[in-house]
Amino acid sequence: MSFPEVRMRRLRRSEPMRALVRETSVEPGDLIYPIFLCTGEGVRREISSMPGVFNLSVDEAVKEAENAAKLGVGGLLFFGLPESKDEQGSGAWDDNGIVQQGLRAIKASAASKKLLLIADVCLCEYTSHGHCGVLVETGDGWTVENDPTLDLLGQTAASLARAGADIVAPSDMMDGRVAAIRSALDHLDCADTPILSYASKFASAFYGPFREAADSAPQFGDRKSYQMDAANLREAMREIDLDIGEGADMILMKPAMPYLDVIRAARERVEVPIGAYQVSGEYSMLMAAFEKGWLDRDRAILESLLGIRRAGADFIVTYFATEAAKLLG
Ligand code: PBG
Repeated sequence: MSFPEVRMRRLRRSEPMRALVRETSVEPGDLIYPIFLCTGEGVRREISSMPGVFNLSVDEAVKEAENAAKLGVGGLLFFGLPESKDEQGSGAWDDNGIVQQGLRAIKASAASKKLLLIADVCLCEYTSHGHCGVLVETGDGWTVENDPTLDLLGQTAASLARAGADIVAPSDMMDGRVAAIRSALDHLDCADTPILSYASKFASAFYGPFREAADSAPQFGDRKSYQMDAANLREAMREIDLDIGEGADMILMKPAMPYLDVIRAARERVEVPIGAYQVSGEYSMLMAAFEKGWLDRDRAILESLLGIRRAGADFIVTYFATEAAKLLG
């Protein structure tokens, strides 16, 4: 059958009709809101390349958590800006580190009953050189060493779990980190803490604004020796298989919008829950268009999230989480 018997527009005639046949949805509970914790009190410092996103001291982050909980957001993802940095990134696994303090404070608030607290596990915000692993000088320069980094990541994950993280999310892209983190968690009484691994993470220009937000830009070189080449979909599938093999309970795909095909391929390949990260550059580019009046803000936000859900993501990390939850509510 074809036209004129078939008329696709019949099912688009009214909003109730469109709602009946709608295939994909976005709910506030599908959204995870990133939080950048900094030291001090009463600090709420806007990130210049990410209007509407702030570095927050712990007391301000508690308020933000309460707001997110009220709106029905699914959870928070924490990053930290430590007071000082060193070669090894010791602020990452310091039991009194900035994210550990934030986790304890929010865990003690009413908001934590409704929100999942997810801790990003990486060294780049804490190392003086800004790389995600241990740096070693070689004859002709330097390299980010894989194996010595694993212990530090395990220690970091365990420290974050003990401080109250419901989920730990390694984003460093070292080989073998999921197994190392699983074993560190299991040895330190955190066998029930799930790992959400950034299994498919590309070396992307779209992380630019985040590096201002988290003060984590590499001081020299780039991240191409550990994050994936943007051209490679099959390699992303290998990364995912390996991480699940090592014990990842869920995987995170990143970035989202320029990599929707990778999210779809992952969805068709594996059964574990999949999250996608609508990263800082995706947020900033939409915000720039909103500021210029070039896009309808509310519609573009929801459509961008719907597209990521339709590609196959179960949940989405997004800087629009609270705003989108308000729109959906
Ligand atoms: C840490 C990390 C980064 C992001 C999440 N975790 C930065 C990077 O890899 O350079 C990027 C998130 C964003 O751009 O919003 N390794």
